[in-house]
Amino acid sequence: MKLSLDLKYDTPPEWTATVMNDFNSFLQDHADCERKASAMAMSLVYKCPDKTKIIPWLVETALEEMEHFKQVYDIMHERGIALKSNAEKDPYVEPLLKLLRTLAPALTRPLFTRFNN
Ligand SMILES: [Fe+2]
Repeated sequence: MKLSLDLKYDTPPEWTATVMNDFNSFLQDHADCERKASAMAMSLVYKCPDKTKIIPWLVETALEEMEHFKQVYDIMHERGIALKSNAEKDPYVEPLLKLLRTLAPALTRPLFTRFNN
């Protein structure tokens, strides 16, 4: 089950200009995001071994995100760009996880009910 989302608005030209102004950093950040997405999917497999209906979807997601990582890494390799070393933590992750822990039962119940055994 592949899930893709349509963009809700056009990419602002300012964003494109910012990216193109430092494309190498953009590629490094993008590769890191793909790596994290794959790792997060596999982390959920590990944390929810009893959710057998969602595990195949999580594994598929992890593989897909790893494929994206490879695509970005191949471009980086061609351009001679190294991966980020000691990537900084994303400042929004901890507050987001804290919020999810607080609201998790209400927010995640429909998701886990859908995929529950
Ligand atoms: Fe991706």
